[in-house]
Parts: sequence; structure tokens; C-alpha cells
Amino acid sequence: MKTLGVGLIGSGYMGKCHALAWNNVAAIFGDVPRPRLVALAEASLDLARQRAEEFGFDQATDDWKSLIADPDIDIISITTPNAFHAEMAIAALQAGKHVWCEKPMAPRLESASAMRDAARTAAQTARCIAAIGYNYIQNPVFRQIKSLIESGGIGTITHVRVEMDEDFMADADQAFYWKSESASGYGALDDFAVHPLSLLYTLFGPLASVACDMVKPYAERPLASGGRRAVENHDIASMLCRFDSGLSATVCVNRSAWGRKGRIAVQIYGSKGSILYDQERMNEFQLYLADDPAALSGFRTILTGPQHPPYGRFIPAPGHGLGFNDLKTIECREILVAIAGKPAHLIDFETGYRVEMAIHAMAKAHTERRWVDLSEFE
Ligand SMILES: NC(=O)c1ccc[n+]([C@@H]2O[C@H](COP(=O)([O-])OP(=O)(O)OC[C@H]3O[C@@H](n4cnc5c(N)ncnc54)[C@H](O)[C@@H]3O)[C@@H](O)[C@H]2O)c1
Repeated sequence: MKTLGVGLIGSGYMGKCHALAWNNVAAIFGDVPRPRLVALAEASLDLARQRAEEFGFDQATDDWKSLIADPDIDIISITTPNAFHAEMAIAALQAGKHVWCEKPMAPRLESASAMRDAARTAAQTARCIAAIGYNYIQNPVFRQIKSLIESGGIGTITHVRVEMDEDFMADADQAFYWKSESASGYGALDDFAVHPLSLLYTLFGPLASVACDMVKPYAERPLASGGRRAVENHDIASMLCRFDSGLSATVCVNRSAWGRKGRIAVQIYGSKGSILYDQERMNEFQLYLADDPAALSGFRTILTGPQHPPYGRFIPAPGHGLGFNDLKTIECREILVAIAGKPAHLIDFETGYRVEMAIHAMAKAHTERRWVDLSEFE
């Protein structure tokens, strides 16, 4: 595998997660070359210099386009607010760089479509990889659940429910910031629902049709600079989903749910058993098997350990637990594997675009108060 030069755009919450992953991936996995952290771009030069020093990048700039033009950079990590993703990803792909872009792809479907088209072209002309930051599919617990379902461990799947809740926007006095702007998207749909959809797509394939109801719990929020500003999108959404396979699922997302910190509660019911999982307890899942003896019937808790790859790459002791940043390191390694031309467990811009289609179908279903077929967006 070739040693890759990395350029990072944005150094906030996700920028730090990408930087940690780039720093750790070779040490954790031992089977990929240590990337070179070439340059970090931020909105201001002072912040770029500070973060480049902290994160270990050689150069700092307030001009992200200089990363795209830099021949020493092979891959661009995009961790800026949603509205910037399309322009940055398309420019990187057109320059022949690989792209690791945070979710969602873009607030507008036309932009996501242009990103997918740029990825298709760059894959053909420069063998570029374009992946979206859907870290939760990387959890060793989730990989175990996927293999359990695929081997028929709980029989035919009859119903699925996913709820994603956090409370970082639960306070009505939380200051207005970019996540409440319509320029960032529909709100909880783009911000949260894409994650459950990434899990559902990975387990059950494409969606066929959706219904949706969105809620705006607070009409306006205070501005940090004084005064108040109208909230432009919705913090809560409830969806009914039908897959191409006929499977039915519900997805509820809420970023103003007091007490919830990082909940992604998944319930999967089958003809021979059930699986429960919650990202707030990301190192375990519950399994109920209908064939258990009646006297021992009940949910068992399975803790992750080295028997759930790639857990053992991080720590040899079972039950000690991985964390959110470890999922990003696993995702980073999958990207390096994909770049090396091997099969990888990732959501690329093709599948990512299917997720975006579902989001826009949900928004349309809410607006028009009806079920919407995803084929309306083909
Ligand atoms: N995968 C996940 O689990 C996950 C979690 C949180 C956020 N995200 C996604 O990550 C992205 C960033 O979210 P965040 O929470 O890190 O935001 P953030 O506000 O913490 O960080 C964004 C950074 O981008 C910088 N930036 C803005 N414009 C820039 C420009 N033109 N050039 C360079 N830097 C610029 C900002 O200064 C800021 O430091 C969003 O798309 C969000 O949806 C993903």
C-alpha cells in the first residue's frame, strides 16, 4: 500500500475525530502505512495553525483550495458544516484526490447527485475512493449483528425500529448556530436520520417508500450576538419506512430529547428471535432466541471482545470496550483498504446518494402529507 498524504478541512468536533483516526490508524491496525499529515485548513489562519500543531499536521492554511492543489496530498478529509461538503468534495475529486466526507452529503439533492457523479468520474479516471462518515456501521457489535442476521440467526426479519436521540438542542435557550439554518438541511433528518438509514441500508438494502412527520419544538432561538432568530428547520422527525424487500421499519429522530446523549436504539424482530442494541451502550447487544428452553427464556447480553473483529486490534481483553473515536479509526482503515483496491465495509457516494434520496423523500412526505416512493427521485 502506498503512503498517503492527508489534507484535513475543518478542525471542530469531527475534524478532531478524523485527525485522531489518521494519527492512530497505522498503530492500531499494523497493516496499513502510516499516513503523512500534510496540511490542515480552517476558516481562520490562527485556528488552522493552532489545530495543525495540536493534531500533528505539517502545514496550516485558511484557504482549503490550496489543499486541493497540493500534489503531496492524496486524500481530503472534509469535516466542515454540511453546506460546504459538495463544493469541497467535487473540487477534490476533480483534482484526482480520494475523499472522506462527513455526513450528510449535502443539504440539496442536486448537490448530492453532483457529488455522486464526480465520484463516478474520479473512480474511472483516477481510481478515486469517495466515502461518507457513517461511523456507526463500523461498530464490531453492528458487524456481529449483521452476520447474525445474514446467517438466519433470528430467522426472517419481521419488523425493525430505530430511534436516534440526543439533547444538545433540547434547551430552548440554546444559542442559534448553523445546525438550525435551512442551508444545513431539514434539521434532524440530515443531522440524525442519515445515521439510522446507514445502518438500515447496510442490513436490509434500499428503501422503497416513506412517510414522515416533522416537528419544530422551538420556533426561535437566541443569537450569541443578542436578539433572536427564527429556527429554519425541524429538530424532531418520525418516519414509517418500507424497503424494496417489503420489510417495514420505523425511524424516529430527536435532537432535543432531554436526557438522551448518544442514543441509537435498534430493535430487530425476527421469526426466531430478537436483537436489541443501543449506541449509548455500544459495547454490547441483547439477543433473544425463541428456541431457548422455556425455563431459560429471556434476553442475554453479549459483550464485545476480540472475537468481534476488529475489536482485538485495539485491545486483547474482552469487555473493556471501544469508544466513538475507535469507530472513526476503523472507518479510516476501511478507506485505506478500499484505496488499496480491496473490498471494504464503507458507505460510498453511490449508497450515500440512496440515503440522501430517502431523506428528501421523507421531507417531501412531510410537506405533502402522504407516502412518497423513492422512485419519484430516480
Ligand atoms: N459522523 C458523525 O457521527 C458526525 C457527528 C457530528 C458531526 N458530523 C458532521 O460533521 C460535519 C461538521 O460538524 P462538526 O460538529 O464537526 O462542526 P463544527 O462546527 O464543530 O466544526 C466545523 C469546522 O469547520 C470549520 N470551517 C467552516 N468553514 C470552513 C472553511 N471554509 N474552510 C475550513 N474550515 C471551515 C469551522 O471553523 C469549524 O471548526 C457536519 O457535516 C456534521 O453533520 C458527523
